[in-house]
Amino acid sequence: MQHAPDSPDQLPPTPDYDAWPVETRLSTVEHQPHLVTLHWQDGRTSHYHSIWLRENAADDSTVNPATRERTLDLSRLGAWPTVEAARLDDTGALSVTFAPEQRTLRFHPGWLRAHDYSNTEHIDAPLVPVTVWTGDRHDAPHSLDAAGWLEREPEAPDAQALLESALTAVLSHGLVRLRNLPTEPGTLARIAERIGPLRSTNFGSLFDVRAKPDPDSNAYTSIALPPHVDLPTREYQPGLQLLHCLENSVAGGQAVMMDGFAVAEALRERDPYAFETLTRVKWCYANTARTSDYVWYAPMIRRDDSGRLSEVRIADFLRGPLMAPFDDVEPAYAALTTLQRMLHEPHFAMRFTYHPGDLVIFDNRRLLHARDAFAGDSGQRWLQGCYLERDEIRSRLRMLRRAERERRVASLVTGDTPTL
Ligand SMILES: [Fe+2]
Repeated sequence: MQHAPDSPDQLPPTPDYDAWPVETRLSTVEHQPHLVTLHWQDGRTSHYHSIWLRENAADDSTVNPATRERTLDLSRLGAWPTVEAARLDDTGALSVTFAPEQRTLRFHPGWLRAHDYSNTEHIDAPLVPVTVWTGDRHDAPHSLDAAGWLEREPEAPDAQALLESALTAVLSHGLVRLRNLPTEPGTLARIAERIGPLRSTNFGSLFDVRAKPDPDSNAYTSIALPPHVDLPTREYQPGLQLLHCLENSVAGGQAVMMDGFAVAEALRERDPYAFETLTRVKWCYANTARTSDYVWYAPMIRRDDSGRLSEVRIADFLRGPLMAPFDDVEPAYAALTTLQRMLHEPHFAMRFTYHPGDLVIFDNRRLLHARDAFAGDSGQRWLQGCYLERDEIRSRLRMLRRAERERRVASLVTGDTPTL
């Protein structure tokens, strides 16, 4: 946190709660009315627009120091903010005098370096690069030993390191397995809350996956479940699913995981028309239970604004009647059956057995999960599950990285080597 009062003999505050180590210093500054050009000691040159700098100042005419939220309304400045003077001050910070306000504002060099948009090629790059996988290369999820993890304070460095490894795996591969956790019912909530708040649904905050009388989902039986995502019937299907194994002594019931992005990529390669059809035609997803009636229409494969795969909605047992333009119906079914055949190809699937104390965290809008049938009278199979949003995992990972940067800032002040 660097929001101390803006004193000329110390680095200025930043418009956030983060820590920005100054690992490269500024050497010179040039300016034009609409532009500031910074030269760094490692040879990099960065350009910043005057209006961008003005709105990203950290003083109390721009942000509320109590919340770090912007209070400045650019349209109230009277004219386009321009640079009248720009220099480096004695602390190494950038100092800019803006017209028409005649206001001099200072900028933290570590923050400027981290937000150097003139040298950033992929502004919206994911926090962790996505690695698409097929099951024939993995016989189990990436696994971490979480014995004792819950007994340690969440802020303990080794507890944070385990969480960071887990979250990084979920963002890259869509999946991680924590092992050797306690098996008391309800433990899952304590684990999930180390990431973020749970998303409650009509199945509850925590749901029990086990065969039960009068089931309201195929999940609560002993029959096989085909590869699927959960709750595609919602406008916004949950981003993450956590499943914690409390008991598993049945014959059968092996878990199956499959990277939906790998299947979608393979479909795009083999049958581009089918792929395009599934990104365009809206299917009906319906979960019409006795006490609720969720229905949503959406394409089966979605890309984000940059063209990257962002979501699959595959759950054959939750599809309602297709209500598409007449001429789309046969192409849609042709594409669907091509995709369904691919889901049966064994090389996409990773198969493993849950052991009590195992917990998997997976991206429910990317990975498909399935289960083999099990013999209901052969023992007990009890998983507890819950949902979170992708936002929670990204926020938590940013917080863990912030803690690392705070340690780096502290080490730069003391001269100690950071322990990361
Ligand atoms: Fe499921």
